[in-house]
Amino acid sequence: MKRAEAERLADEVLLVVRKKTGRFFEVSGLAGRFKTGEAEIGQALKSIQSWGYRLQSGADGRVKFVAAPDKLTALEIGYGLKTAFIGKTILAYGKVKSTNDVARELADSGAAEGTIVTADEQTRGRGRLGRHWHSPAASGIYVSIILRPRFSPEKAPGLSIMTALALAQTLEGYAPGRLKIKWPNDVLLAGKKVAGILTELSAERRRIEHLIVGIGINVNHQAADFPESIRASATSVRRAIKTKVPRVALLQKVLRDFEKEYLRYRKAMLKSSHGKILRYSSLLGHHVKLMSGGDVIQGRAVDIDQSGCLILQDGDRRIAVSSGEISDVR
Ligand code: BTN
Repeated sequence: MKRAEAERLADEVLLVVRKKTGRFFEVSGLAGRFKTGEAEIGQALKSIQSWGYRLQSGADGRVKFVAAPDKLTALEIGYGLKTAFIGKTILAYGKVKSTNDVARELADSGAAEGTIVTADEQTRGRGRLGRHWHSPAASGIYVSIILRPRFSPEKAPGLSIMTALALAQTLEGYAPGRLKIKWPNDVLLAGKKVAGILTELSAERRRIEHLIVGIGINVNHQAADFPESIRASATSVRRAIKTKVPRVALLQKVLRDFEKEYLRYRKAMLKSSHGKILRYSSLLGHHVKLMSGGDVIQGRAVDIDQSGCLILQDGDRRIAVSSGEISDVR
């Protein structure tokens, strides 16, 4: 049997035994089902185990599926993913420079809306404003989502806060009552940064070609996994809830919540999510100072509007800020 054929057989055997987790299968029965020999099925079962899946063999030679590895592979992410189009195509890498860069190349060559790129590790993870996003192996979620919305480029900035809302809602299931959104795109857990979003737009003649939404979540990082410079201001889900979190299940929930919010956004921007955003916002009611396009702007944060602008009140003046870097909150 050729290698590709053997791999396909192993994939199919995996699907069959996994569908009935806990039930024993006769090797001869599987051989009959796949119209092949018992030796080939034996080889397929070995391959499945070498991919990290746990199988149990009974004394009588029967075999059952026990558990899947918590590995960010396309197979695992796609298995049981409950979305309509986000993650329908998955490219899962071990190590890349930046998933946003890979996604941009794919988008430039025509990848469909909803295609996602993930990596177990990034060597040059990028944050906003040219910063580095620390992306160690086997600990975080680093995912980039390709979007091709039909709305105009001016509507793109609100996608960051929309994504922050989706992440806050997902993480709420792990650490209830402890999530906040810090405009424009940070997610805080217990007051520390747990996730960040980097949205990159490619537009031509007032039309969006594609948008890449890059999401980084600190999931199972331990304190020592963070560089000294951010150890006090960053956290991970694991640090906050003192439990290791399966990354595959978390990513699937992220993709599902992201899709829900994105569908709402496509219809009416932040109209139906406005209330939730305000409830999660860490800035509302505070006096805020920020840098935006080279200007220092300050005022009391009173709202986040339907396009994702932060609304500051400075005396009688209301200022709408579409992007910026917060330097002080009181
Ligand atoms: C920030 O808070 O500054 C944004 C961080 C965004 C990090 C993610 S990880 C996946 C994607 N690939 C990148 O290089 N960056 C984003």
